Amino acid sequence: MSLSTLESAVVLVTGANGGLGTEFVRQALDAGAAKVYATARTPRDWADERVVPLRLDVTDAESVAAAAATASDVTVVINNAGIGAGTGIATGTDADLRAMFDTNFFGAVAVARAFAPVLAANGGGALLNVHSVLSWIGIAGAYSAAKAALWSATNSLRLELAPQGTLVTGLHVGWIDTPMAAHTSDPKSDPADVVAAAYAALLAGEYEVLADDLSVSVKQGLAAPITALYPQLAG
Ligand SMILES: NC(=O)c1ccc[n+]([C@@H]2O[C@H](COP(=O)([O-])OP(=O)(O)OC[C@H]3O[C@@H](n4cnc5c(N)ncnc54)[C@H](OP(=O)(O)O)[C@@H]3O)[C@@H](O)[C@H]2O)c1
Repeated sequence: MSLSTLESAVVLVTGANGGLGTEFVRQALDAGAAKVYATARTPRDWADERVVPLRLDVTDAESVAAAAATASDVTVVINNAGIGAGTGIATGTDADLRAMFDTNFFGAVAVARAFAPVLAANGGGALLNVHSVLSWIGIAGAYSAAKAALWSATNSLRLELAPQGTLVTGLHVGWIDTPMAAHTSDPKSDPADVVAAAYAALLAGEYEVLADDLSVSVKQGLAAPITALYPQLAG
């Protein structure tokens, strides 16, 4: 099934209280979604009767299963929840590395696995996995590794869910102006622009969203010698 409109769609957003998540909820409502499950570890009230606040901790298997059972009418899943951190691969603790993968890889994959049958039962629908430009460049240690792993999982899920008619799309972007990026004064994308690009891609049936110029150039850099992406290694 292709998703031609968000009107009458039933959208579920993970990490809905965060900077990007809030924008995914808001723009789904603006586009006429019938219902939006705004899921969070601590759900909050939203001033719109179409919003259903729902508890969902992506690292808690019971919580994921319960959310999938409750939200059995979902047609669009926005797999957005994530954590940022500066955990180095060599220098981070084992616990920090595992925590990063628990949320940004296993958590997102658990949501995809739990909702795949729901999407199938509702005609196919769409799954958007929120990656990062850092999926493609390892300057952020464990975060890059987990987002790279999620990118790979998205590529597999796209193939595995195609027969049931589910569009699987991956979003890549550099800094976005949300609490996760509050510590940096580097240029940041507006969350509204990133979410608009993501929903436009879903409606166009696109498999990948490159939401900023940095993501375009880093993706191109993957085909170049290693020192093109990592000039600090150039002799
Ligand atoms: N901001 C950037 O520069 C940037 C760039 C590229 C990609 N991204 C990605 O964009 C996504 C959204 O991040 P953001 O920028 O909106 O950051 P944010 O404002 O910090 O929001 C992240 C959200 O994820 C939620 N979350 C964390 N762990 C969770 C868990 N175990 N279960 C459920 N929810 C959980 C947080 O919930 P609580 O409210 O409970 O803490 C928070 O609402 C993430 O996947 C992030 O990696 C961000």
